[in-house]
Amino acid sequence: PANADLVIVGAGLFGLTVAQQAAEHAGVRVLIIDVRDHIGGNAYSYFDKETGIEIHKYGAHLFHTSNRRVWEYVNRFTEFTDYVHRVYATHDGEVYPLPINLGTINQFFRAHYTPAEARALVERQAGEHAHGIARNLDEQGKKLIGQPLYEAFIKNYTAKQWQTDPAELPASIIRRLPVRFNYDNRYFKDTWEGLPKNGYTAWFERMIADPRIEVKLGVDFFDESQPLNRRTLAEAGVPVVYTGPIDRYFDYELGELKWRTVDFKERRYDEDDHFGCPVMNYSDADVPYTRAIEFKNFNPERAESYAPGKTVVWEEYSRFARRGDEPYYPINTDEDKSIYDQYRTKAQLEPNTVFGGRLGTYQYYDMHQVIDTALTAYVEEVAPLLNRW
Ligand code: FDA
Repeated sequence: PANADLVIVGAGLFGLTVAQQAAEHAGVRVLIIDVRDHIGGNAYSYFDKETGIEIHKYGAHLFHTSNRRVWEYVNRFTEFTDYVHRVYATHDGEVYPLPINLGTINQFFRAHYTPAEARALVERQAGEHAHGIARNLDEQGKKLIGQPLYEAFIKNYTAKQWQTDPAELPASIIRRLPVRFNYDNRYFKDTWEGLPKNGYTAWFERMIADPRIEVKLGVDFFDESQPLNRRTLAEAGVPVVYTGPIDRYFDYELGELKWRTVDFKERRYDEDDHFGCPVMNYSDADVPYTRAIEFKNFNPERAESYAPGKTVVWEEYSRFARRGDEPYYPINTDEDKSIYDQYRTKAQLEPNTVFGGRLGTYQYYDMHQVIDTALTAYVEEVAPLLNRW
């Protein structure tokens, strides 16, 4: 059915990377299918017609990595801006820098602590809760940074993220809470970071700009009314790289893996700049969304190309995903982990099929991690299936 040596299900970063590698190293013809009407998976973005602003359709995506192989690889397809990620939070009518750092602490306590004094204070406040094992996230948060900072910046935000009282959440969700005892509020600690100069989609198009790679959009692997479906491809013996949900592949026969999703509410303001920064978190319970993204502030270098006096903001509302929602963050309870292990065992027995990406392995991956796993999967799992080469 496929005029191809390899079929890839999913045009996200995992699928695109494997496709690029297969064409380059094995010289094979690759067909990528995706049920969506665009490539790029969750990292896809588009330029808003009214304002010229690049909008990340599935939530804010910031590229960062300390992995030299990945950095060199991505730089083959795009240049990066010198964007450095920083986040602010609104709490009780004031704006604070995040992650919690000396600036946050001194503003919060109306103080001028030195690094050593702040460290001693946080240790003392945590110490009041140090006794015993934390039985839930609430106790764990107080134990790690003390009650005042935990309640101001973590408690309500986490409750909104999980739609659950932190006293009902497992302590294991926050093993550590990074507090910086200096004024560094650079969000990522990686060696390299930046945003693709001409946008995410231009980057992804470059990855597959090869006559041997073909993309078919709006095609569902499980839809047997179209020819590129699971059954016909298996019968034809075409190797498949599957990057969709692993439980869906096995018709949920061992149960469903649980995810959180995010609903985005778009606001348009007749202002040049609404927040003065790209990401504003809302730490308090009275604002129903967790954070808001002002996309144009990710790309200040494009100021000339924006419609004046206009900006676009997306508010993020987090909730548990039902079937049919976009799965974003794996919930990963012990039950989920055990179900996933069983699916993985079955997946390893599937002939001619490689499972990968965040949905195929039920893992939260950043983009650089998904590219790294795809480069490895190509060599270890996909290339051996392309045996005629
Ligand atoms: P991805 O989900 O992108 O692609 C899978 C593709 O398979 C999809 O396009 C889907 O339509 C397709 N598919 C599924 N089932 C199919 C079927 N039956 N038939 C055909 N096609 C099918 N990372 C980072 O580095 N920095 C960041 O700032 C962020 N931010 C961020 C925010 C949010 C809200 C999320 C959820 C994630 C991030 N990420 C991130 C992570 C990033 O999105 C992620 O690493 C990559 O998109 C994963 O690429 P994959 O190819 O694995 O999956």
